[in-house]
Amino acid sequence: MKLYIKELREEKGYTQKELADMMQVSFQTISKWETGANYPDITHIPKLADIFGVSAGVLLGMEPLKEENAEVKYDDEVYWNRKRDLLKVWKRLFWNEDYFKFLVKEVWKFKKPIDILDLGCGYGYLGSIMLPLLPKGSSYTGVELDGEQIKEAEEYFSDKPYQCSFIKENIYDLKTEKKYDLVVTLFLMSHLPDPKRVLQIMKQALKPGGMILIMDANMEVEQAGFYSGLEREENGLSRPDFIPMWEYEVSHGQRDYRMATKLPYLLKQEGFKDIQARISDQVIIYEPSDPSKKQMNEDFRYVYTHEDSYEGGTGYFMNRGLSLDKANEICDYYSRSSEYFDKPDSMAVKTSGVYFVYAKL
Ligand SMILES: C[S@@+](CC[C@H](N)C(=O)[O-])C[C@H]1O[C@@H](n2cnc3c(N)ncnc32)[C@H](O)[C@@H]1O
Repeated sequence: MKLYIKELREEKGYTQKELADMMQVSFQTISKWETGANYPDITHIPKLADIFGVSAGVLLGMEPLKEENAEVKYDDEVYWNRKRDLLKVWKRLFWNEDYFKFLVKEVWKFKKPIDILDLGCGYGYLGSIMLPLLPKGSSYTGVELDGEQIKEAEEYFSDKPYQCSFIKENIYDLKTEKKYDLVVTLFLMSHLPDPKRVLQIMKQALKPGGMILIMDANMEVEQAGFYSGLEREENGLSRPDFIPMWEYEVSHGQRDYRMATKLPYLLKQEGFKDIQARISDQVIIYEPSDPSKKQMNEDFRYVYTHEDSYEGGTGYFMNRGLSLDKANEICDYYSRSSEYFDKPDSMAVKTSGVYFVYAKL
């Protein structure tokens, strides 16, 4: 059991001696409480909680110590900007380029030039991979909150032979006169609090007969398709159950971890027709000992050993409805995964499972 006496004492700026005087105990007693060598008598709990100005639940580690991660705002440029580099590498792991090419060339078969609108376009990645696959004369317009990413996109396209433009705007405030043949989002929808409204905004920007395309993930599908050597019996680690946390987020208007699979239903509600979906076919085998997979191995290792991939500590998970034990279990799993993937003989299988959900107006 972990009592947050040391953390709370330091936060208040008290020495052990000062706290000991307030509690009318010796400073050795405080030291023992802090190291877990001994626990305070139950009669001390209300006074300690009162001194620190927290509930007994926080003091006893049953509630999160800090509220700062309580609500992450996903439609906030600061959040995305901080994760920019990490997201680029994540994208390479998720993105099944040959499959996307197959969809453009063999499934969607755009015969004439098209105008594309990409909401939450980031650094214009989708434009950079899609324009070379389309008939000459096609155009790409990106809408993005984060000015830094727009700058990067403009720089990238400055010497390319394509028609591109970028709008720095929150998509909820977007007003477009122009209508588009294709309106898309890539890795955006599951983060937005009001997907129904986003679909209406996308619909309003479409030409009659135009196509809406939403690419996103279902974290349950991803999890089902993930296996690492760490989970082998001899390593004694089983993967924690993340679903209660994801369900908590959905029911609190945050991320929707199953968005991709819900989209056909939402599209129908908004009056779209010919609703179809595909799922990317790439399964990554992480095997650092195989030099022929150098780039992918480096990408995998980078994201799975990067602390930002794992969000916050126990407080983050407790703020998402988990008990301290469950939160500790997840943090432990993450830190052991991170150590494991650093080893040259580690191995993992990762199914990207990106959904491509598309329909006509
Ligand atoms: C996961 S990133 C994906 C970026 C891009 N679609 C890609 O795949 O490279 C989500 C992006 O959406 C942007 N974003 C989030 N909410 C937004 C909003 N309400 N309006 C405009 N952009 C938004 C973020 O700034 C971020 O760049």
